[in-house]
Amino acid sequence: MSTAESPSTAPQTHPAQEPVKVLLLENIHKSALKRFDEEGFQVEMRSGALGEDDLIKALPGVHLLGIRSKTRVTARVLENAPDLLSVGCFCIGTNQVDLVAANRRGVPVFNAPFSNTRSVAELMIAEIILLARQIGDRSREVHTGVWKKTATHCHEVRGKTLGVVGYGHIGQQLGVIAEALGMRVLYHDIMAKLPMGNNRALPTLNALLEQADFISLHVPETPETRDLIGPDQIAHMKKGACLLNASRGTVVVISALAEALRTGHLGGAAIDVYPEEPESNDQQFHTELQNLPNVILTPHIGGSTEEAQEAIGYEVSHTIAHFETSGATTGAVNFPRVDLPPRRGTHRVLNVHRNVPGVLRDVNQIVSDLDANINSQVLATDAHIGYLIIDMEQNVAMEVSRRIAALKTNIRTRVLY
Ligand SMILES: NC(=O)c1ccc[n+]([C@@H]2O[C@H](COP(=O)([O-])OP(=O)(O)OC[C@H]3O[C@@H](n4cnc5c(N)ncnc54)[C@H](O)[C@@H]3O)[C@@H](O)[C@H]2O)c1
Repeated sequence: MSTAESPSTAPQTHPAQEPVKVLLLENIHKSALKRFDEEGFQVEMRSGALGEDDLIKALPGVHLLGIRSKTRVTARVLENAPDLLSVGCFCIGTNQVDLVAANRRGVPVFNAPFSNTRSVAELMIAEIILLARQIGDRSREVHTGVWKKTATHCHEVRGKTLGVVGYGHIGQQLGVIAEALGMRVLYHDIMAKLPMGNNRALPTLNALLEQADFISLHVPETPETRDLIGPDQIAHMKKGACLLNASRGTVVVISALAEALRTGHLGGAAIDVYPEEPESNDQQFHTELQNLPNVILTPHIGGSTEEAQEAIGYEVSHTIAHFETSGATTGAVNFPRVDLPPRRGTHRVLNVHRNVPGVLRDVNQIVSDLDANINSQVLATDAHIGYLIIDMEQNVAMEVSRRIAALKTNIRTRVLY
């Protein structure tokens, strides 16, 4: 998405007396309402996504915007949303928001990266068992009137080896549950990770591929993980092993996997993510993996459960409400991280500025000119912006804010309390 680095037209103060308005789009789970209600925020909920023009019309007066994956928050939307303080993505991905444009305009964007971890791990466990018993094929046969009662190539998972590639949030959950089923769990990660239970780290991907009966991929999408599993890696896998991918579609070379399933080198696969996925449920979907033996195909639903939606509602409403009431940006995907606990009897000003030398000197001069005492001050920066929280003992916050807003380096300044 394109971005423009332009000075903000945002209002320079946001008095605490003004009620905070929240707009939630796309049927966000009602668990999000609890925290907003507790804070006394005014919430408007709408069921659908909004196009760019309609979103621009809806945003005046809105301080916090909650979206899921279908609403695009473009640079143009951000330019035309002077009251918008923060965007909460009630989902995992954030590429529907122009994160760079939001950063330059002083708008932190939050998401819920781990609320669906358990949902993915549980699906992987289910699919390991379904692959071991060839249940996808048996079910399809019975649906079409074919009765094929057989034990050939059907196994228990107890005592089998699971190889987890990417031992992060999902990989670790999966390792713990798999061990409870009596599986031996090996993992490979590029970072040193503390093993859970009796899970065991292996130094190379090939060492894991050579030993595992089931290989489950849980890496992020990075240049290094693109085509991580291709013909060479599949050649290292044991004959009859099964591959599971619910991470990102670009991690597996689909043509190589399809060939290995056709030749019988691999015994099965469960695939939830694809290099190219339809943008809506109305579109047809084709993959080379369709109709191959013992292959379970799902439409990117690894994290899609009602529990995960509820957890996302809690998590994101909490982070954006916390930002609104304290200025904390912990968990923001596009912003310097600052979290200063509120202190009784102080007055707080938040400032986002261009990251150039001398800003802190200018700000402190303003406070000192007003004979005020800084109680706490925290600054964090990235390559382009600085984010500053100042707590002062004297009630000069409005005047401090007005003067900081007049600095050439100012992007956005507001009084919190
Ligand atoms: N299918 C779904 O619906 C669904 C839902 C949630 C998450 N996901 C995807 O699952 C993946 C994992 O999510 P997570 O929350 O566990 O992420 P995470 O960041 O907690 O863990 C990822 C792990 O992969 C490791 N890693 C990175 N590059 C690696 C490499 N080249 N080789 C080995 N390890 C590597 C990291 O060090 C980290 O430990 C992500 O790609 C995420 O997008 C999919």
